[in-house]
Amino acid sequence: MNLPQPYTVGELRAGPPCCDPQPHLSVRGLGVSHGGRSVLDDVSLDIHRGCVTALIGPSGCGKTSFLSALNRMTDLIPGARVRGQVLLGGQDVYAPGTDTRLLRQRVGSIFQRPNPFPLSIRRNLELPLREHGLRNRAELADRVERALRDAGLWDEVGDRLDAPALALSGGQQQRLCIARAIALGPEVLLMDEPCSALDPIASAAVEDLIARLRGQYTVVIVTHNLAQARRIANYAAFFWLRERVGKLIEFGRAQRLFEQPADALTAAYVGGLRG
Ligand SMILES: Nc1ncnc2c1ncn2[C@@H]1O[C@H](COP(=O)(O)OP(=O)(O)O)[C@@H](O)[C@H]1O
Ligand SMILES: [Mg+2]
Repeated sequence: MNLPQPYTVGELRAGPPCCDPQPHLSVRGLGVSHGGRSVLDDVSLDIHRGCVTALIGPSGCGKTSFLSALNRMTDLIPGARVRGQVLLGGQDVYAPGTDTRLLRQRVGSIFQRPNPFPLSIRRNLELPLREHGLRNRAELADRVERALRDAGLWDEVGDRLDAPALALSGGQQQRLCIARAIALGPEVLLMDEPCSALDPIASAAVEDLIARLRGQYTVVIVTHNLAQARRIANYAAFFWLRERVGKLIEFGRAQRLFEQPADALTAAYVGGLRG
């Protein structure tokens, strides 16, 4: 069993500020095509360790494709092709012989629609742990509790772990999905519009959780909610369609990008004039 230990709640709360950033994922000349059609071209940026990076831009500009390429979820999409390089801690995730299961344990995905398994709350967390070889009951129970605490769910569900996950509210289901990813001790969490299927109160709870994860986890989040991106992101990347191909227009510190965009398109988009 070589699953890394997830962080404890105490460490999570004491996360260092994102002020001395180091590249965690380095993306170089990344392109994605679907069925031979290029949908994203020549994206280069560094995703910094312990920071929240928000990806913004209109629908269809390749944000989901970009996210999927980072942990090779694109391998699972028929007809998808990736060009360029993604380095995780300096190692090319597309190098031959890469263990994609280990890659996706290190770089977990959270999707727009909460997708818990149709099982109990406990089994949702135990299943991936068991798949990674964890069998010890005490350790399983410990990891389940810690993941739920870190996801801010323990107080809500700790007394009914055997209840069906699908009976939880949408917001609780999404936090359970985050707990499920956290339980595996990941380094990076990729979140694709994690709040867009939720009501405002549930969305706020998920947003609070993401803010708490900052520091210990590297988070890349796609969001259509620019106010949310401003609140939680340390870095922001703005994508746009040029001649029907997604391009990275601007990337940098979120506050700078929102308040003093360098590109006129970014200025128009974050000013709410376009997109
Ligand atoms: N599995 C797929 N097969 C074919 N085309 C796809 C597939 N996934 C995405 N696309 C196309 O790629 C483009 C970018 O999509 P996507 O990455 O989902 O953008 P975004 O997340 O910014 O809305 C769109 O034109 C979309 O239709
Ligand atoms: Mg998308």
